[in-house]
Amino acid sequence: MASVGLIGRINTSVVEFPVAQPRRSCGFSRNRVGFRVFAQADAEPDLSVTVNGLKMPNPFVIGSGPPGTNYTVMKRAFDEGWGAVIAKTVSLDAAKVVNVTPRYARLRAGANGSARGQIIGWENIELISDRPLETMLKEFKQLKEEYPDRILIASIMEEYNKAAWEELIDRVEQTGIDAIEINFSCPHGMPERKMGAAVGQDCALLEEVCGWINAKATVPVWAKMTPNITDITQPARVSLQTGCEGVSAINTIMSVMGINLDTLRPEPCVEGYSTPGGYSSKAVHPIALAKVMSIARMMKNEFGDEDYSLSAIGGVETGGDAAEFILLGANTVQVCTGVMMHGYGLVKQLCSELKDFMRKHNFSSVEDFRGISLDYFTTHMDLVRRQQEAIRERKAIKKGLQSDKDWTGDGFVKETESMVSN
Ligand SMILES: Cc1cc2nc3c(=O)[nH]c(=O)nc-3n(C[C@H](O)[C@H](O)[C@H](O)COP(=O)(O)O)c2cc1C
Repeated sequence: MASVGLIGRINTSVVEFPVAQPRRSCGFSRNRVGFRVFAQADAEPDLSVTVNGLKMPNPFVIGSGPPGTNYTVMKRAFDEGWGAVIAKTVSLDAAKVVNVTPRYARLRAGANGSARGQIIGWENIELISDRPLETMLKEFKQLKEEYPDRILIASIMEEYNKAAWEELIDRVEQTGIDAIEINFSCPHGMPERKMGAAVGQDCALLEEVCGWINAKATVPVWAKMTPNITDITQPARVSLQTGCEGVSAINTIMSVMGINLDTLRPEPCVEGYSTPGGYSSKAVHPIALAKVMSIARMMKNEFGDEDYSLSAIGGVETGGDAAEFILLGANTVQVCTGVMMHGYGLVKQLCSELKDFMRKHNFSSVEDFRGISLDYFTTHMDLVRRQQEAIRERKAIKKGLQSDKDWTGDGFVKETESMVSN
């Protein structure tokens, strides 16, 4: 029987948490395939997912950015087996997008940010695509002709102008792309033009722009959220209420990577100056988990059984990272910096590690465990109540020593661990 047993430690004594059953429905999708109660131990786990009617061989999606910047790299992603590709964000007039170099800075683990330490954080001040829209559209069309069964998603962004949004949607849809992700979240460069995070951080503006977009689009629309906001559930809610089929989270976190202690200049340093950029990679994963958890709870509570989707992003490099997002309710998992660092072949490792996780818990499909861990979040007050109750129960069965006055002096560690209160 598919189940997940969670072992945890409270007050250093090992306790068994209640065994979570796979849900019949956690209220996320009409397209559920359901779950198999008796998963066969030797059956190969099925990674395929159907999201807003889009069929993908696995939940791993190339996140918008350098890994989806042109025909060659997107073709590579399909050939390597990615479940879907989201292209680099495009706008109508690429001539307005001017990039600088260097545009990346990295944070390494290890003593004093040692040059040999593992990269854990990545800052970029890269803008959206600076390639001509015509060129990008031609490449989308060619990819869809060559890979008709694979999912190609256009990422788009425009200025605060209804006609411009409508023209852009019309033109990307004509290429045959399967869905659109709206970049409401780029933290640098674009907000100066009332684009990206400038819209995602202003719910009134977002409601208006989402209204234009959803009145025009004929394919599923995902709204990509910025984490640079007090309550990420607010724009997520507005996006779904105004007709988007899905939410993606998170884009990069506003950051300053560091100050060079020799030159006293900030990094990345362009002609002696810098500007705050977007932070990604492993270091953002815990923050992304929290944002995805908040959105997933809001979606479950307020949007119930409707066919809305959640695409989780942030610091994914292993199948385990992806499993965490899915356990919180994500339908798909996007990877951007991880592909920049480890290459397109990473998808094979992600799939194999996710399958290992599924085998370990006897899950046969992604739906078997999607959202299961969401139920284990509660308020701090409730944690206190639960702990006091647990302590009362343990005291009642007199499992351990009541307090340090009962110490005998034989084995302090063992006696301390057996104490029932903290
Ligand atoms: C160099 C770089 C460029 C990016 N460009 C875009 C972009 O054009 N559009 C977009 O929506 N997100 C863009 N992103 C954000 C990523 O898609 C993703 O949301 C973020 O980096 C967190 O995921 P990760 O840790 O897997 O990279 C970019 C990220 C990086 C690192």
